[in-house]
Amino acid sequence: MEFGSNSQLPDAQLIEAALAVQKHAYAPYSNFRVGAAIRTAAGAVVCGCNFENASYGLAICAERNAIGAMIASGQREIQSVVVVSSGGVTPCGACRQVLAEFGMDFAVILFNSDTQSIQAQWDMRDLLPGAFQLKS
Ligand code: THU
Repeated sequence: MEFGSNSQLPDAQLIEAALAVQKHAYAPYSNFRVGAAIRTAAGAVVCGCNFENASYGLAICAERNAIGAMIASGQREIQSVVVVSSGGVTPCGACRQVLAEFGMDFAVILFNSDTQSIQAQWDMRDLLPGAFQLKS
């Protein structure tokens, strides 16, 4: 397991939420189901899963869907994120940039749904060094 300097304890409730929303993923083309659950600074949990389209390039990732849910719920501050997938893979580049919009100090926990265990834990800042910003 890889750990960043943010050695937050795993949040069992957040892992359960990400596992639950992974089951709702709509991934008939890739068969790769992803669930993401965000613990906001206010303590709430917001979730998203990936959903694909017959026009393949229109697929939306779980992480970005969860960010949309967070914004729609009126929250903008992330405490930690759990991303669940087969193998516990790291977020794609686009999702890293979208997550980074909302801070660099939160934990990103990658949970492997095959082994039902934490695969890795990163600090956001280590997942996207040099993230694009409009102003420095
Ligand atoms: N996917 C995510 O949901 N998150 C990522 O960070 C990478 C990829 C989804 C998109 C697509 O539905 C499937 O995984 C295969 O790429």
